[in-house]
Amino acid sequence: MIERLKKWFAKPLSNTGEALDPDNIPTHVAIIMDGNGRWAKSRGLPRMAGHHSGMKTVKRITMAADRLGVKYLTLYAFSTENWKRPKAEVDFLMKLPQEFLSIELDDLMRNNVQVRMMGYKENLPDYTLEAVEEAIRKTANNTGLVLNFALNYGSRKEMIDAVRCIGNEVKQGRLDPDHIAERHMESFLLSTGLPDPDLLIRTSGELRISNFMLWQLAYSELWFTDVYWPEFQDEHFYEAIREYQRRARRYGGL
Ligand code: FPP
Repeated sequence: MIERLKKWFAKPLSNTGEALDPDNIPTHVAIIMDGNGRWAKSRGLPRMAGHHSGMKTVKRITMAADRLGVKYLTLYAFSTENWKRPKAEVDFLMKLPQEFLSIELDDLMRNNVQVRMMGYKENLPDYTLEAVEEAIRKTANNTGLVLNFALNYGSRKEMIDAVRCIGNEVKQGRLDPDHIAERHMESFLLSTGLPDPDLLIRTSGELRISNFMLWQLAYSELWFTDVYWPEFQDEHFYEAIREYQRRARRYGGL
């Protein structure tokens, strides 16, 4: 690990010439990968070409995160609201995990990456779920970067479900309402077991959270870029982390 860091921090990691601090790499980076459609349109291509190109960015940024020593990378691949898109686009998006994993799983294994999923399994086509579950199974013992796909994920639903579970605990007499604490919510969220994101990145110039990890982002640093996801490069990722390293995180304190 030390050798790997030396290799990557010995030279400045961006065209600004300023090196990253290896002791202050965010543990968990979450990304809203936005702008696939606009990227395609700007090139006169169908939207699907944007999503396909975005899939290649997924691999590129996964590897960049791994090299930097990021421990968790959560990628918003499909929201509970994305079902409203035209069927052809939904079908295409649902095939991407399978295509991605058929190409990249061996390399993810070689790089000790552990694949996880955060989202609702219901409504996912069998081929999508099977591909993701196979990757989760095969990589379960890997100890490197955790690559967490937010797939059919929606934060309000996640929180309502958690509140429902807490209500049930109260009803069964296992939990006193006066003792309900953050840890109870967290134990029922889909992200249970993951630390909260330290840094949220959203590409494409939109300044919204879009129902993504609303509870978990309470104290995350937010970083936005106009760059569309298909053209998001390692250097943009380093720039986000550099900005993160400039910020003072106070968690409400002084
Ligand atoms: C938002 O951009 C993007 C999505 C809804 C899908 C994101 C999916 C990928 C980047 C590929 C995922 C790959 C794997 C391996 C799961 P948009 O289409 O809404 O762009 P627009 O706002 O410009 O129209």
